[in-house]
Amino acid sequence: MRVGELIRTAEAEGREKHVPVIELMDCPEPGCTGKVVKVTVGKEVPHPNTVEHHIKWIMLFGVRGGVAVHIATFDLGPTYGAPEVTAHVNPEGFSELIAVEYCNIHGLWEGSLAL
Ligand SMILES: [Fe+2]
Repeated sequence: MRVGELIRTAEAEGREKHVPVIELMDCPEPGCTGKVVKVTVGKEVPHPNTVEHHIKWIMLFGVRGGVAVHIATFDLGPTYGAPEVTAHVNPEGFSELIAVEYCNIHGLWEGSLAL
């Protein structure tokens, strides 16, 4: 089995709490002309955030020429680290953004945003 076969998407049960939602927006900081990516897990239905059940990490990639390019990794602690993260990003040359997250109970989940 390949790890890709274990990554769940928007078709799987539990998607409302797990599929990462990616938003690309202008940076709100005064004077900044760049872009910001926001990734939210549990945007539709909040995901539990306890020691027993939480989102452990979120990884963000850009797709360029059919290759996944790492943009950022967010390592979250339960209870205090909510699964909503942002990063400045230069989306130039990317055809898509992909986020993968890991829930300690429900495994790997993926969401994407076509650019
Ligand atoms: Fe979960």
